[in-house]
Amino acid sequence: MSHQWWRQAAIYQVYPRSFADADGDGIGDLAGVRARLGHLRDLGIDAIWFSPWYPSPMADAGYDVADYRDIDPTFGTLDEARELITEAHQLGIRSIVDVVPNHCSDQHEWFKEALGARPGDPVRDRFWFRTGRGPLPPNDWQSTFGGPAWTQVPDGEWYLHLFAPEQPDFNWDNPEVRSEFEDILRFWFDLGVDGIRIDSAAMCVKDPELGEIREGEPHPYVDRDGTHEIYRAWRRIAEEYAEPRALIGEVWLADAERFARYLRPDEMHTAFNFDFLGCPWDAKALRKVIDDTLASHAVVGAPSTWVLSNHDVTRHVTRYGRADTAFDFALRGARHGRPTDLALGTRRARAAALLTTSLPGSVYVYQGEELGLPEVEDLSDEVRDDPMYTRSGGADPGRDGCRVPLPWSADLTGPSWLPQPPSWAALSVAAQQDHPGSMLTLYRAALAGRRALAGPMTWLEAPADVLAFARPGGFVCVINLSAAAVPLPPHEQVLLSSGSLAEGQLPPDTAVWLRTIDSPA
Ligand code: NOJ
Repeated sequence: MSHQWWRQAAIYQVYPRSFADADGDGIGDLAGVRARLGHLRDLGIDAIWFSPWYPSPMADAGYDVADYRDIDPTFGTLDEARELITEAHQLGIRSIVDVVPNHCSDQHEWFKEALGARPGDPVRDRFWFRTGRGPLPPNDWQSTFGGPAWTQVPDGEWYLHLFAPEQPDFNWDNPEVRSEFEDILRFWFDLGVDGIRIDSAAMCVKDPELGEIREGEPHPYVDRDGTHEIYRAWRRIAEEYAEPRALIGEVWLADAERFARYLRPDEMHTAFNFDFLGCPWDAKALRKVIDDTLASHAVVGAPSTWVLSNHDVTRHVTRYGRADTAFDFALRGARHGRPTDLALGTRRARAAALLTTSLPGSVYVYQGEELGLPEVEDLSDEVRDDPMYTRSGGADPGRDGCRVPLPWSADLTGPSWLPQPPSWAALSVAAQQDHPGSMLTLYRAALAGRRALAGPMTWLEAPADVLAFARPGGFVCVINLSAAAVPLPPHEQVLLSSGSLAEGQLPPDTAVWLRTIDSPA
């Protein structure tokens, strides 16, 4: 285990309520994760990122944290978390916890205290309490989940919530907030976690004047210059440990240069590559996003990350089967239910798996991606739980469709907090386990194979709409995004392919890993 494991790790995202359910209540739990660690070891991942597992009223599926130092009873206990972290370490798997610094739950002790206090009381200064403009909220900021970003309390003041009203925003200008989070980091680092994923990382610092959003001016709450000091302080804490802990940011920013600032050597180690996630299935666009990623990261010496899916976005098997394969968060809801060809999406997802696992940097696997699960787009309104659905009055279907519990066995009759489609029996772990042509088998082979890869990538000449690149040691990856089969380049051995290769030809939407002739084995 190298000190800089995060530079090339394969990190698997566990969304606890939907990963594995051991107690039969239809909701995943830590006992379920412990029981399935073998699946993750066999898959060949290096680390698990746990989406929030803290006590929470679940107004936003746990991203509304009531207590940052404990485990929600639905999932288990802190002792079980400790055991899980230890057992994972014994299998060579590191753990990353999700830290949510922008906001907490309205059931967090500090917020309850603030609500019980009078306007002007210092305990309110841990949040953003303000008087309104007459009957109107203090400004016109909108919540990401729809509606105003302010809610009025009985004494007339309003508090800020950039997400749901149950998620009040912390005031990061208050030193108590800073020291509280530094202490939370130490709590989990001392307990043995190897890193943190930082939620909504670019939104914590606000313009104290709470100015409106104006074109050409610094945004009042996204990517404020002052944000970096938070992560510099966190990096110093991470470096206090014999094996430094890793900081991984959820930073959604269009500007690559501003994005890279978060990855300077004294800030975060890595951040999710949402440009890559959103890129259409198109050779030129993919090549450009890969080049841009490598270039912007090289400036700060940070490794790139390759991400195809997570718990907030439409699963990529479904996206890649649509006429428009690009992903835009703002259009996620609008595209919901558009026609998709899942066989095509699956073929592309298989090819994409060989691409992401062979690019230099770290790679993320969202639970179920290794099974080729599609988005579940026909959930009934009664079972939908996402605040994006409820707060939009149903106009936005929300993110539940990528959060349906994993199918472990072909018997899908057990309880499940979101129903699993019957077609998932064939996609279950049991069904794919020993199947040579399955997505699971492909992911296992790819994650095992990538361990042999090191060093930079170099683009190779290739036919139109075909991407080909080499890594040192004679490794070549070719992905055919054109509409016709193309001949394979000269090679010594086919290491892995995402589909069958007919007579030396690489079919459309297929990728292959080759060992080339002229290089040392
Ligand atoms: C980003 C998380 O990934 C998402 O699920 C959540 O709703 C928001 N941040 C708010 O915490």
